Formats: sequence, C-alpha cells, structure tokens
Amino acid sequence: MKKAVNIISKPQTNELRKRLLKMEVKDFTCFSSPLVLSFAQNKTYHIRTYGCQANMRDEEIMAGLLENVGFKKTDDILTANLIILNTCCVRENAENKVIGEIGSLKNYRLNNEDVLLAVCGCMVQQEHMIDLIVKKYRHVDLIFGTHNLDNLIELIDISLRDNSRVVDVKSRPIEIIEKLPSLRNLKHKAFVNISYGCDKFCTYCIVPYTRGQERSRPKEEILSECQELINNGYQEITLLGQNVNSYGKDLKNNATFSMLLEEVAKLKIPRLRFLTSHPFDFSSDIIEVMKTYPNIMKYVHLPVQSGSDEILKLMGRKYTSKQYLQIIKDLRKNLPGVHISTDLIVGFPGEGEEQFLETLEVVKEAAYESAFTFIYSSRVGTPAAKLIDNVSREVKGERFQRLVDTLEVSIKKAADQMVGKTYPVLVDGISKKKKEILSGYTETNKLVHFPGDESLIGQIVYVEILKSHLHSLRGKIVDGVNK
Ligand code: SAH
Ligand code: SF4
Ligand code: F3S
Repeated sequence: MKKAVNIISKPQTNELRKRLLKMEVKDFTCFSSPLVLSFAQNKTYHIRTYGCQANMRDEEIMAGLLENVGFKKTDDILTANLIILNTCCVRENAENKVIGEIGSLKNYRLNNEDVLLAVCGCMVQQEHMIDLIVKKYRHVDLIFGTHNLDNLIELIDISLRDNSRVVDVKSRPIEIIEKLPSLRNLKHKAFVNISYGCDKFCTYCIVPYTRGQERSRPKEEILSECQELINNGYQEITLLGQNVNSYGKDLKNNATFSMLLEEVAKLKIPRLRFLTSHPFDFSSDIIEVMKTYPNIMKYVHLPVQSGSDEILKLMGRKYTSKQYLQIIKDLRKNLPGVHISTDLIVGFPGEGEEQFLETLEVVKEAAYESAFTFIYSSRVGTPAAKLIDNVSREVKGERFQRLVDTLEVSIKKAADQMVGKTYPVLVDGISKKKKEILSGYTETNKLVHFPGDESLIGQIVYVEILKSHLHSLRGKIVDGVNK
C-alpha cells in the first residue's frame, strides 16, 4: 500500500473563476522514462469515460499517450494494469456513479500491487472531491485534472518512482497544447476540438470551473487535423466545443465560427457536424453557411434549458424565449428538413407551475425532433447553489414526466414522418443486441437499425425506413453502397 501523498497542485476555488487574457499555444513535448517504459512493457490500460464528448476526446488523447510508451488497451477492467476513471460532475448522479466505481475497484487494486488506479476529468477539478478521495479512497494512486492531461506519463513516472499517491490538478489552463498524440475510438467518424472551456457561467453549471477559460484553437491546427482525418478516409467530423458558436472571440483576429465552419466544409468531408450551440451566440451567418454547403448536416443541438424568461434570467442564459424561438423559426425556414434537439432542466430554484407551463409552451412551439431532459442538481460553488432549492422532489419528478410526455408528441411525429422514405445512413457498427443488425445515423442524427453485413461499417448506405420508434427507426438497405 502506498504511503505518502504527493500533492503537486490542487485547484483553488477562488482561482477557478479567473480568466487570463491571452493563451499561449505550444506543441506537445513527448516525455518518457526508463521506469515508465519498463512498467508499460506487456502491460494493459483501461479508460472508463463518463460524461460528454469533451471527455470522450480526452480519452482518445490519453490512449495515444499511453500507447506511445508501450501500454496496450484492454476491454476488461479487472485485468488492466492501469485503470483510469475519466469523470464527470455535471449532475450529482454522475458523481455518485464514479464514487461507486472507485469503491468497487478497491479489492482489485489492493490485491494487485502492480496495478495503478487513476482518477481524472471534471470531478477532481473540485477541491472537495480531491479531499474526499485522498482521505476515504486510499487505493487511488493518481489524481489529475482536465488542464494537464498531457502530463499523464510524467505523473505515472512520479508515482512509480516515489511509490507515492500523486495529486496534480491545476486551477486553470495556462496554455493550449497542440499536436497531441491520440488513438481515435472509431475509424470513420471523429470529434475535433475547436475550443476548450466555457466563459458563459450559466448559474447552475459546473463546466466553466472544471474546464476553465474558453480558448479557441488556432484555425490552421483545426484545418490540418480535419484534413488528416479526410486523408485517412473519415466520413464524418464533429466540431466540438462547450459553446462552438463563440469560436474565435478570444483570438482577436476576427475569426468567427461560421468562417471556420465554411473552411472545414470546403475540405469536402462527407458529413460535418458541430456541438454544442448556445442561442446567445448563434448568429444568422451560421445558417447561411449551413444552407450553402450540403455536407454540413441539417441538425442543430440548441439547448433552451427553460421556456420561462424569469428562470432563463436566473440561469444567466442571456436570451429570452422569444429570441430563442426566432432562431428556431429562422432555422426551419432556411433549412427545410432540419432536425433540432435541445437540453432542458426542470426544477430550477424558483420554478413554479406558471414558469413550468411556459417551458411546455416553448417545447410545443419549437416542435423538437429530439431532446435531453434533466432534473436540476445543485453543484457546489455555482451561483445557483446559493438559491433556495424550493421545488420538492415529487414536483420535480412530476414535471419531468409531463415535460417528457410533451416532448414525445413532436418527436414521435417527426419519426413517423420518416417512415416510407429513404435516407443516407452512415453505418456505425453492429447492434448491441443482434449481430446481423447494423446501426447508423441519418444526416439529421436519427438512429436507424437495419439488417446488413459488418463489412459496411464506416460506409454511407441508403436505408428505407419501415418502422418508427420514439428514439430509433427500423429499415432496410435499398440501394447498395453510396461511395
Ligand atoms: N456546453 C454544453 C453542455 C453543458 S452540460 C451546453 O451548454 O449545452 C449538458 C447539459 O447538462 C446542459 O445543457 C444542461 O441542460 C445540463 N446541466 C448542466 N448543469 C446542470 C445541473 N446543475 N443540473 C441539471 N442539469 C444540468
Ligand atoms: Fe455550462 Fe452554460 Fe457553458 Fe453550457 S454554456 S457549458 S450550460 S456554462
Ligand atoms: Fe461532465 Fe465535464 Fe462534460 S462535467 S458534461 S464531462 S465538461
């Protein structure tokens, strides 16, 4: 059992809010040591990722770093020599899952002296969570944050050398690291970060504290990453950021998201997507670019959170329901067949029946094709945590159900309207339940299941929709492969 705890850095709550004016861009410098190289020999790693696409992309980067020094991936967590829990803390239940997992790995870790257990990601950007893990979960060897992923190999080296438990979680990012190695999860579709962090500070949200200052990557780096993916036969790229629409605002070179989107579209990737949009920064020039380039998928995820202006104000969302619905109108008018999805929170402090009914009205008017719904969860250190959480658990549950029922009307209608029509579908893989069934997504991000051969994975095929369910469709391939 490890003895000393080596605290290199811990995030300080008052530092988490600070924004530096300028970020330096640096190329990744590779680190390895004889100690790590000999430890990694014939050893395996397993990364368990929770949370959003930002974490999924971080997993790919960590995998790249680990493979560089000789680790091999395993799908079986209970045979891995290095286990990394890549965590999320956006809601309490996300954290509870991770804590449960850390506990369940105790015996495996303690019975295997040559195993390292690491916890990284958003959850440990919170000081109280570090304190909890250091004190209560003494079998965790390594804790590092979202701002120093690139130091992973160095941290493993320190832990091995000193036989210590290492904590290195920075309060804020100090630079943007380019040319990071990565081992991508899929061979046909990829996430490309265009910006990191978030400066919106919605009052309920922990992300600006865990991911830090919004920082846009240089355009040239993004374009060259996209070009390389295209050269390697990728069919789909999703440009990624907590708020993609504000891309470039920190660059001081007049770069905008719509300009970047256009330049990536011109590279001729067959399918181009972007995630997530914020209504405050969603300008009409984005719609213009979407209209011009058929390879930009006609799908927009535009979180509304609430339909009540009063609640939107308390949430710090910086738009009214009227302004939001105007964007929806513009999207539907200019992009026929567009699918729009959203995120909604019920039970925010101060939400009464009247405010909730306003949300239902906006939901009806927006007529979403899909949606993600959440019950408000108070997060330590956010401004909303100081508000009195005056909506009871029962009322939150009941509103959640009414919201889901209302959303289902337009979701079901949109799915039903697809029956009998044929759509191009990018084949993702075989279905979890049946091996002879393939699954993939339409251009508007609808999940489709259909019989077909595994060899079609990664290709775009034409599928006629035969039956609709709420969250997926069933169909059959009609036209062979579209190359
Ligand atoms: N940057 C993205 C992702 C944020 S997290 C965006 O702005 O959309 C994804 C969703 O989680 C948010 O849109 C919000 O609906 C939900 N969420 C965030 N914090 C929450 C909290 N404290 N309680 C409940 N839901 C929350
Ligand atoms: Fe959180 Fe708001 Fe930023 Fe999204 S835009 S990550 S909800 S603070
Ligand atoms: Fe979770 Fe962090 Fe993403 S809190 S939602 S993993 S940015």
